[in-house]
Amino acid sequence: MKDAGRVPADLVDNGFYGQDIISVSQFDRDKLDYIYRVAHEMRVLVERFGSADLLQGKILANLFYEPSTRTSSSFMAAMLRLGGQIIPINNVQYSSVTKGESLPDTVRTLESYADIIVLRHPEVGSAATAAHYASKPVINAGDGVGEHPTQALLDQFTILEELGRVDDLKIVMVGDLRYGRTVHSLTKLLVNYGVEFAFVSPEILRMPDDVLDVVRQSGHAYTELDDVHNVIGDADVLYVTRVQKERFTDLAQYDRVRDHYIIDEELMALAKPEMCVMHPLPRVNEISYAVDDDPRAAYFRQMRNGMYIRMALLASVLGKA
Ligand code: CP
Repeated sequence: MKDAGRVPADLVDNGFYGQDIISVSQFDRDKLDYIYRVAHEMRVLVERFGSADLLQGKILANLFYEPSTRTSSSFMAAMLRLGGQIIPINNVQYSSVTKGESLPDTVRTLESYADIIVLRHPEVGSAATAAHYASKPVINAGDGVGEHPTQALLDQFTILEELGRVDDLKIVMVGDLRYGRTVHSLTKLLVNYGVEFAFVSPEILRMPDDVLDVVRQSGHAYTELDDVHNVIGDADVLYVTRVQKERFTDLAQYDRVRDHYIIDEELMALAKPEMCVMHPLPRVNEISYAVDDDPRAAYFRQMRNGMYIRMALLASVLGKA
């Protein structure tokens, strides 16, 4: 906890107060249950009332060194719907970063004005660095190819909302498993549950060893394969990812794998009737637009769930949930 040694009497001692959210490894099943319960309440709140004044008087600094549509705007919407205010820095080229200001000095500046900082940055470990220098809580909104913990939370919340459970499911992840940080975080989070994994990718985009080590050490079964046809019929969750062009140094290599998987109606016909298709978005070409009308396509509901999860996190870290 950063602000104080103990939780002030007027705030909620929920295990999150004053904490940084840097990695999914911070979450056990009790903490996950708590956040999902609060997120569900936030959903009901928004559907019934639109907004509340829970975080009135609080300010969020939203600091994005990399492009974002969903994460950035859903954090802002989450803060605004809870009655708080935001300092949006989505174009760091117009900030003093362009003058050479370091990340530690930038977060020390923003925490002078704000109560909590959300950071997206291209370098692995940048959120941990920012948290080290900041005395206010820092939430990792994606650190390079490292982690994207709030995405993993919203992904798992979506599985719960769509299928009613996380245990005893076959989770099939497809696409860029090497550079896609969302699949790294989600895999590390799902090992808290009784799931079975199938990792489907071209050879050069396989799941990194450090993530597979977590799966192995937790005793979960997994397979690695190239052809999604061989596994889609068993999938309860089909988690599709974009090939991350921006992480490639050799664009010819990107061109060879960019359209390796396209989920279309023909492929969906092989899947279970109650399977759920997810994607962190943005999509480029990997899910056909015709699939959008399939009731199993959960990716737009998943995106909306991001706001509820981020409302739950902001309220919890600020001691109001
Ligand atoms: N899913 C996700 O992180 O989307 P953005 O890059 O638009 O934030």
